[in-house]
Amino acid sequence: MRKPFVAGNWKMNTDSRSSVNLAKRIACGSSEVAGHGVNVAVFPPFVYLDSVAKALSASSIAVGAQDVYCESKGAFTGEISPSMLKDIGCAYVLCGHSERRHVIGETDELINKKVAAAIMGGLLPILCVGELLSERDSSQTEKVVTRQLKNGLAGLNAEKVSAVTIAYEPVWAIGTGRTATPQQAQEVHRLVRNLLAQMYDDRLAQETRILYGGSVKPDNSDDLMSQQDIDGLLVGGASLNADDFLAIIRSAA
Ligand code: PGA
Repeated sequence: MRKPFVAGNWKMNTDSRSSVNLAKRIACGSSEVAGHGVNVAVFPPFVYLDSVAKALSASSIAVGAQDVYCESKGAFTGEISPSMLKDIGCAYVLCGHSERRHVIGETDELINKKVAAAIMGGLLPILCVGELLSERDSSQTEKVVTRQLKNGLAGLNAEKVSAVTIAYEPVWAIGTGRTATPQQAQEVHRLVRNLLAQMYDDRLAQETRILYGGSVKPDNSDDLMSQQDIDGLLVGGASLNADDFLAIIRSAA
């Protein structure tokens, strides 16, 4: 019922040439699976979005941005609006990625505004949630994820939230090579789905895709995808290697 979704977050990597080459290699290699069994999207840096979107225009691979600002236009130096992203062919946007929360210092409140603005602007937000290692070690995972989910979706009704994908990314598993076990991930995914049922209704909870992210690699993607509430993967490092990313797409398909 929930179509698997594999997203590649390129973070602050690639350049004008390698971004387009990577996109083309992924499009070429995934032509049998993308669009049928699985949705695929890539998230290049802002400055390469346009050329990557053009390179992928004939494929079924979607393009997304790694961030967006919560206003539609005006005096916000350095920021990018939802309509600008739409204009160049973006479908998705990441909101509240852990690096934006913990490195840049984004708050739940700002992330909530970004999610709302993205939906208003016709984009499909991926709201990222996840606990720090210290929070997991002190049994705060449930509390932190609940707070991030509730605050991130505050003020949005079920119709709006139907545009949202959730990504659970334990911060201690991002870029560390230390993946959550499939059971640890499933436990939090189940929590998120139960929360969505409480906040909205069963139907929305059953239809919302919840992705796992954090050191996803071709050798752990099958096990992660075998979990009942894991509907897809948000891949960082391994999405920069076309062969690895294609292998992960195949395991999701
Ligand atoms: P990683 O990053 O796969 O390199 O751990 C995942 C993410 O930050 O989305």
